[in-house]
Amino acid sequence: MATPRNGNTANHLEDAAIHNWYRFVLAFPDHLVANYLDKFGIERGATVLDPFVGTGTTLVECKKRGVHSVGIDANPVTAFASRVKTQWDIDLDSFCRRRDELLKRIRPALLEMLPAGQMVQLSFEDLTRLRETRSGYESTARTTSDEIVALIPKGAISPLPLSKMMIARSAILDQPTDDIRDLFLLALAAAAVGGISNLGFGPEVYVSKQREDADVYQLLSDRLSHVETDLRAIESLKPFARSQVFCDDARKLTEFVNTGIDAVVTSPPYPNEKDYTRITRLEMVLLGFIRDKKDLRQLKNRLLRSNTRNIFVKDDDARYVSDISDIRAIADEIERRRTEKGADSGFERLYHRVVLEYFGGMYRVLRELEQVMRRGAQAAIVVGDQMSFFQVPIRTAELLAVVVKAKGMPYDIIDIEEFRTRRATATRKNISETVLVLKKK
Ligand SMILES: C[S@@+](CC[C@H](N)C(=O)[O-])C[C@H]1O[C@@H](n2cnc3c(N)ncnc32)[C@H](O)[C@@H]1O
Repeated sequence: MATPRNGNTANHLEDAAIHNWYRFVLAFPDHLVANYLDKFGIERGATVLDPFVGTGTTLVECKKRGVHSVGIDANPVTAFASRVKTQWDIDLDSFCRRRDELLKRIRPALLEMLPAGQMVQLSFEDLTRLRETRSGYESTARTTSDEIVALIPKGAISPLPLSKMMIARSAILDQPTDDIRDLFLLALAAAAVGGISNLGFGPEVYVSKQREDADVYQLLSDRLSHVETDLRAIESLKPFARSQVFCDDARKLTEFVNTGIDAVVTSPPYPNEKDYTRITRLEMVLLGFIRDKKDLRQLKNRLLRSNTRNIFVKDDDARYVSDISDIRAIADEIERRRTEKGADSGFERLYHRVVLEYFGGMYRVLRELEQVMRRGAQAAIVVGDQMSFFQVPIRTAELLAVVVKAKGMPYDIIDIEEFRTRRATATRKNISETVLVLKKK
């Protein structure tokens, strides 16, 4: 429940409002953020930072309470989602007028003129041409279907839903470049993963049953009505708290974040074999954030090292923690088990390096945070324990606390509390997700 501001209560604002504009499987629950804001005594007017902001859960929760916020994410899709979800100064009349125009424009192509059975055989180009001749629609598709298909995971979306989605995308891109257009794009991205594609989530992204057709028109239209409802509901929270989102690397956040941060609530990647870029790959392509493999590589290079797919030859964050015996011991144990098993693939050889690079990277983030947090400010860092590398246990929160102590960093370790447990699919063992709470001295 949002807290009262300016004498208004926001009772009609549902907990899921705004958050649902776009969510992803890695998001933490909004009540977790709410709990820590309460625990830390964060009141309206304070400033909270989330250096791994993902889809903006922390920022949206702060904004609902009149708390200013700053978010960083290295993934352009999630940074975009966080930015759009915190741009609340939208002129509602313009939003509704342009939404209605957009839907009217794409309706003939998506619904009326092309019965599903007829369209199945059509390629994207056929569909566009057909639309042009029969509905007077001028196509301005910026990317051809072939280029797009090559970057999307195989089977992630069937040809017909893809064609329909591209028609909607093209019409949205014809709109003026502004916050309203961004809202439309985010709604399409959310519809893409939540009904148009064949993707399933939990805990990994996977390709599920092929969906031959999808009602792109209805899915988009429903999402845009929810956006309208939420925009109306937040009117009572005006004037809105400020929010800023940077698409950048948290390991160098002092380059763009100012001092005076009152609290940090965040959930960085965990050291496991999850390729964080795969989870949002479809949206990355749809929103035009990557056009080729080179773009993807550059993006991975900005990410904290947490899996073998984003370890690069030149990486050397490991040097910051290679003198810490608890971390060294884990890396050595992983290497010992690998040799014992004769596991020799390129990926397996990198497992121990992931651990060193991960904690080295997190050390850098903690160093940066200490410079922007005010004295007495607290940080809640949500991380999961892991056993992805030959089942060697990695107690992430405890090891981060070890790094803080070993490096004599200016934080008091207030708590390491369990937030939830989940069952690991491979080992069937319970694995904890914990919150490391630090206080800046
Ligand atoms: C566990 S998710 C955070 C989810 C977020 N709490 C939410 O509710 O959506 C971790 C995020 O860290 C981001 N990330 C990874 N490396 C990063 C880096 N070096 N700098 C900033 N963000 C990074 C990933 O793109 C991902 O969105």
